[in-house]
Amino acid sequence: MNIWPLSLSATAAALVVLLAVGSSIYHPHLLYQPWLRGADLAVMNGTIYTGDAASPFADSMAIRRGRILQVGNYSTIKKRIGSMTRMENLQGKVVVPGFIDSHVHFIFGGLQMGQVQLHGVSRKEHFVNKVKEAVSNKPPGTWLQGRGWNNDLWGGELPIASWIDDITPQNPVWLSRMDGHMGLANSLALKLAGITNNTMDPDGGTVMRNSLGEPTGLLIDSAMKLIFSCIPKVLVEERREALFRASDHALSKGVTTVVDMGRYFPGASTELSWEDFSDVYGWANLSGKMKIRVCLFFPIETWARLHELINRVGWKLSEWLYLGGVKSFADGSLGSSSALLYEPYVEEPLNHGLQVTDIDKLYNLTLASDKAGLQVAIHAIGDRSNDMILDLYKSVATENGIRDRRFRIEHAQHLAPGTVPRFGEQEIFASVQPDQLLYDADSAIKKLGVERANGGSYLFKSLLSGNAQLALGSDWPVVEINPLRSIKSSMRRVPHGWGNAWISSECIDLNDALNGYTISAARSCFLDKEIGSLSPGKMADFVVLSVDSWDEFAAQVSASVEATYVGGLRAYARDLIEDS
Ligand SMILES: *[C@@H]1O[C@H](CO)[C@@H](O)[C@H](O)[C@H]1NC(C)=O
Ligand SMILES: *[C@@H]1O[C@H](CO)[C@@H](O)[C@H](O)[C@H]1NC(C)=O
Ligand SMILES: *[C@@H]1O[C@H](CO)[C@@H](O)[C@H](O)[C@H]1NC(C)=O
Ligand SMILES: *[C@@H]1O[C@H](CO)[C@@H](O)[C@H](O)[C@H]1NC(C)=O
Ligand SMILES: *[C@@H]1O[C@H](CO)[C@@H](O)[C@H](O)[C@H]1NC(C)=O
Ligand SMILES: [Zn+2]
Repeated sequence: MNIWPLSLSATAAALVVLLAVGSSIYHPHLLYQPWLRGADLAVMNGTIYTGDAASPFADSMAIRRGRILQVGNYSTIKKRIGSMTRMENLQGKVVVPGFIDSHVHFIFGGLQMGQVQLHGVSRKEHFVNKVKEAVSNKPPGTWLQGRGWNNDLWGGELPIASWIDDITPQNPVWLSRMDGHMGLANSLALKLAGITNNTMDPDGGTVMRNSLGEPTGLLIDSAMKLIFSCIPKVLVEERREALFRASDHALSKGVTTVVDMGRYFPGASTELSWEDFSDVYGWANLSGKMKIRVCLFFPIETWARLHELINRVGWKLSEWLYLGGVKSFADGSLGSSSALLYEPYVEEPLNHGLQVTDIDKLYNLTLASDKAGLQVAIHAIGDRSNDMILDLYKSVATENGIRDRRFRIEHAQHLAPGTVPRFGEQEIFASVQPDQLLYDADSAIKKLGVERANGGSYLFKSLLSGNAQLALGSDWPVVEINPLRSIKSSMRRVPHGWGNAWISSECIDLNDALNGYTISAARSCFLDKEIGSLSPGKMADFVVLSVDSWDEFAAQVSASVEATYVGGLRAYARDLIEDS
């Protein structure tokens, strides 16, 4: 028999509910209470492009603990709004899924941001002032580095050490020219490097001298190594700073995830990627300091180490850090005439470019990596290296059997007639960088000739038509991280200094370009269950743009980033920057 009067037991029940409600307010994660399950954040009154083909547009989105609870029109998400839900009115603005930059060298880029930027400097005084300003923040004895100067902009006179010696008596200085083939050292740096009147020019390099035979401070090509060997190794603290700087920069452009390809040229150390993993990313992850999601690729030579690590800890280290796969190189670049081609470079009849990795060795490494279940990405720019890698991927897939492997070719820049359909047939992801065509068009035409350049460069539309998946990116710091500009470049293809499109038949539409920076990019690194579209269950990573009409956005493709959200939290807001 129930000893409690009915009213009392009802009161007790009400009390239990009240207690539960109370504790859920203070510890929302301790109790699972479906009837109270509201959103932490609801954004409403937007033009939300979800990237989800089933329902591409919505006006509201409910978010809980960093993930999307529901997306739809206000009436459907309304039931997710509780007393604890923070509401944000998007004022009609266009919202897109957070951009995924499929190919960056993140720490390296962040380090370069910390150097004196001399791009666009057009007067000697300006050059000197920039150095003066930068050195004032440097403790005596530390190196000051800069980059990007171009003497053509001030009439051609080459800079000399005495321009900056007076203002940098206590700091060795190294300032590399825009093309990276020469640089200026101040007198202290020359002294530390032991470069004197008597220093001989090394093979493949020049120590520039004045009429008296004294070094002027300018070092060309291999002579730069004399300086590089005495610049101290970048400290862990500086690399950590570089990660934060790079993250803030990427967030300000709407990027919420990057795929870090690590080593940025074939000869670079394989160890550095691993040091960055343990000392920078691992540290930031463990101490809760990651601001952007990062998927890491490692040098293919170290595949066994990655395999062992994934077996031990899994590929998802946290919601911020993912172990992607392994990366290698087939050739060099068009800019340095080392992309591997079938026909020689127009101006150099004996040069077909460089095959930078032994193909048998690369085959063995790819076979072993793929067998171990790792994803493989290989850099190929020239038509011949692309075919070479497609052949290699085909043999490896045949040898190891069918699986969801998502082989990637990085750049896929110049393709021979007939190569395009192979990407779709073999299910190869083409990881391409549209902004590079803005800089490359003239040089491609010069180096390959009009016919080859126009027949086979940056074939985005053809690749898509052949069912290839495109993952878009920047290769930062080679070109800027800037998905909105890059999307426009892929749609318009108007190079710098041109008034018209380069190969207009290869322009793609807004949908395909956006997909390339979101869902298709997510697939290309196996993160499509987590990110890439604004769908229930995925991370609430999104970007609020400056435009308030989709049609206007599609017509002009000129918008800027107002705010960037990662895991439902605002990680960048333009207003906050402008106000402070
Ligand atoms: C929201 O409303 C718009 C306009 O009324 C409609 O086109 C769209 O399909 C709706 N979206 C969803 C997810 O219901
Ligand atoms: C939605 O945003 C528009 C601006 O585009 C504004 O005029 C309108 O009042 C907003 N609606 C609500 C319900 O806040
Ligand atoms: C280098 O040569 C110049 C001009 O001949 C001379 O003035 C200077 O003392 C020399 N420097 C050294 C370190 O020998
Ligand atoms: C990353 O951080 C999470 C906690 O946020 C931790 O569980 C995990 O072990 C970390 N992984 C590494 C490699 O530091
Ligand atoms: C590749 O592997 C094969 C079979 O294991 C071996 O015979 C060959 O020497 C390897 N080639 C290279 C370049 O490592
Ligand atoms: Zn790269």
